[in-house]
Amino acid sequence: MSESAYAISAWHDTAKIYEQLNALIKQPMRAIRRDKMQEVLAYFETRCAGSKKLTDEAKKLIPGGVQHNLAFNYPFPLAVDKAEGALMWDVDGNRYIDFLQAGGPTVLGSNYAPVRDQIVNLLQTCGPVTGLFHEYELKLAQLVNRYMPAVEMLRMLGSGTESVMAAIRAARAHTGKKKVIKVGGAYHGWSDQMVYGLHIPGTGTFEAAGIPRGCSQHTQEIFPNDLEGLRRQLMLNRLWGGGTAAVILEPVGPESGTRPVYPDFNQKVRELCDEFGALLIFDEVVTGFRLGMGGAQGYFGVKPDLTVFGKCITGGYPMAGGLGGRRDVMMHLSAGIGGTGERAYVGGTLSANPMSCAAGYFALTEMERTQAPVIAGRAGDRLCKGLQEIINRRGLPFVAYNQGSIVHLETSGVMLLDFKNPIKIATEMKPRKHMLEEMGAAYMSNGLITLAGSRMYTSMADTDEVIDEALNRFDTVMGFVEGQ
Ligand SMILES: Cc1ncc(COP(=O)(O)O)c(C=O)c1O
Repeated sequence: MSESAYAISAWHDTAKIYEQLNALIKQPMRAIRRDKMQEVLAYFETRCAGSKKLTDEAKKLIPGGVQHNLAFNYPFPLAVDKAEGALMWDVDGNRYIDFLQAGGPTVLGSNYAPVRDQIVNLLQTCGPVTGLFHEYELKLAQLVNRYMPAVEMLRMLGSGTESVMAAIRAARAHTGKKKVIKVGGAYHGWSDQMVYGLHIPGTGTFEAAGIPRGCSQHTQEIFPNDLEGLRRQLMLNRLWGGGTAAVILEPVGPESGTRPVYPDFNQKVRELCDEFGALLIFDEVVTGFRLGMGGAQGYFGVKPDLTVFGKCITGGYPMAGGLGGRRDVMMHLSAGIGGTGERAYVGGTLSANPMSCAAGYFALTEMERTQAPVIAGRAGDRLCKGLQEIINRRGLPFVAYNQGSIVHLETSGVMLLDFKNPIKIATEMKPRKHMLEEMGAAYMSNGLITLAGSRMYTSMADTDEVIDEALNRFDTVMGFVEGQ
């Protein structure tokens, strides 16, 4: 594994993390004390009146009041006024340290001016979209190919979800096989076939309301790190299922490494794919460029057949999606010149628009110039180390670990529940989920924005001062926990 140009300074001790996570799950919950929770809720009532008014009004016209899965926060969503670098302000003027970073794309920090200025220039000449070819499409493809040689060709699409759809379609067209194997718990967007085994491994179609069963009949899941299970499934598919078109995975582990991989996992999956003639798809929607310009594939030194992009590929500008990979597979997506073999249909009126491609080109160029992934990774290390110190000093059962700029803080452990133990799921899922919502609210009322209360993305804007301020705030919140 290559470390000098990457966000990850050293791969964590995966076995030790699982040990700690299993211990956390076995213990009773350690939630925020009720008196402190009253104070947290009072913050929202008294200091966030503007957000409450706007989002209450929104509930009349917008289902649930928010349109983004990440924007729902207990007890009600915040309405944002301003974001810059490491900070964010709500409409009531409250200031927050922002570890959501839009869900991960802004490795340079929010609303980074040098990229914004280039986009403003572009908008003044050709606007955001024309429907015809623009030079930045080529410039971005050249850049990605230079950073990730496995991306011999690139096609820009509207989102990570669309790019996963395109990857699976291309893999099926290329191999003539149907089955797609994913790792349980991973999120690969919300297409019909991928709303399968979400969040918690082994849950299959649990969250597939509105999706006919047939849509995921060729989707299969294995348990995280279960190479024997993968071999078995590949074998079964070869014998009875018509074969496996592709194995798709997040290379740090499901849910951005919430269930982290062992360091040789990706290489072992590569070998199994080669043995069984399946394509290997890396979903680098989160890791692509966040872990380094070479992505997770560069860090692990494993070459996927196809790579799915999202988020960072446009530096946080809409529409963030792309599929890259082997020329012979990518040519199935050919819309124009030299298409070969069976065409895997993809579309998108606004895909590959000049604005997204220019944003990607300038953001990636800046990330390379400034070494933003490495700086963000070191900020993640500092944050994680500080959280571990707080947890140890206070004798809490919580677990903090990071893969560079992706920092996990497990307090309720809800994401780590296991479907192999359905009784525990039935009795503990809801209360543990609520505890996590309360933790998120407590962080927020202390000026910290996280992803759903358990994950943080750091950026280049997270200086030591920012991280140290954040750690003081986390320490305050940890002092609210039962038994403190
Ligand atoms: C690993 C992974 N794949 C795919 C997606 C879907 O991308 P999008 O939200 O752009 O559709 C996400 C979104 O968070 C993701 O984290």
